[in-house]
Amino acid sequence: MKILSGIQPSGKLHIGNYFGMMHPMINNMDRGELYAFIVNLHALTSVQDREALSRDTMEAAADFLALGLDPEKCTFWVQSDVPEVTELTWILSNLTPFGLLERCHSYKDKVAKGIAASHGLFSYPVLMAADILLYQANLVPVGKDQKQHVEVTRDIAIKFNNTYGETFVIPEPVIESDVATVPGLDGQKMSKSYGNTIGIFLDEKALKKNVMAIVTDSAPVEAPKDPDKCNLYNIFKLFAPQERTQEVRDLYINGGAAYGYLKLELVDILWEYFRAAREKRDKLIADQAYLREVLAKGADKAREKASVTLDLVRDRVGLKY
Ligand code: ADP
Ligand code: TRP
Repeated sequence: MKILSGIQPSGKLHIGNYFGMMHPMINNMDRGELYAFIVNLHALTSVQDREALSRDTMEAAADFLALGLDPEKCTFWVQSDVPEVTELTWILSNLTPFGLLERCHSYKDKVAKGIAASHGLFSYPVLMAADILLYQANLVPVGKDQKQHVEVTRDIAIKFNNTYGETFVIPEPVIESDVATVPGLDGQKMSKSYGNTIGIFLDEKALKKNVMAIVTDSAPVEAPKDPDKCNLYNIFKLFAPQERTQEVRDLYINGGAAYGYLKLELVDILWEYFRAAREKRDKLIADQAYLREVLAKGADKAREKASVTLDLVRDRVGLKY
């Protein structure tokens, strides 16, 4: 069983990324052959700052390792170190109906938020399909927002197989239902592109500032409130122990939930939750040579697998003459 997922280094990684993708990937380490990578080619659709992109690529790698990804137990690399993926993207592009991409919510949402509608942003799902199909992945753990992209991948793979003969494994998305979408500070999906995130590795002051900025309503403390409609509660319950979550839930329902107090409690909970990972991350960031070595080894491993698939694809479509 091959399990594969990627994450964009388009800013600081946040708790939505953690629950939607990093945590499920790390948990799956012993369930199959794991492929985890930093998708810097995808990040080019939104980042045009060389310093930021190269720094955030290294930081995303450190984040993943600090949170528990073991490079000995998986293949872990940076997307652009395996250029085979761009050739496969071009081949797949020619089997991808324009309308399939036009229907993608992620594209439409980003354009609605004012991100320039470049060709790269539009064809982003084809590069993602190439990422998945190149490694013949069976399972793709992602947040709910990426489900449609995995469906696009399936459509492209089926079309390829029907046109050129059985070549690609048809992948399935894996979505953890209780954390399918982590809300951001404003209650919309938490996303680096919406500026509404709580970073995993913020310093204490920035963490406090972010948590205090979680938007809540203006109901008085003693008023009964619906916990499931409260952004703060929905974030709180992801981290607090079950018993404490139940107590807080009762406070919402019966009256007595004080937002300011709960926010301060959440700061403490978050700080403790990521303490060990934070310490490990500091060491990794200080040892860039080690990080680069891990990524270079991962790229060699990934490239070996990628070249087998690409060789077969070239043959299937007639590029071998
Ligand atoms: P962002 O929207 O912050 O740029 P990415 O698109 O890089 O995040 O997403 C990386 C992974 O994290 C994907 O699997 C995505 O589904 C998941 N993810 C991102 N935001 C959330 C969220 N708010 N809740 C759950 N999963 C998320
Ligand atoms: N598009 C994904 C996101 O924004 C990242 C990604 C790129 C990905 N390639 C992938 C996820 C392959 C899973 C598999 O979150």
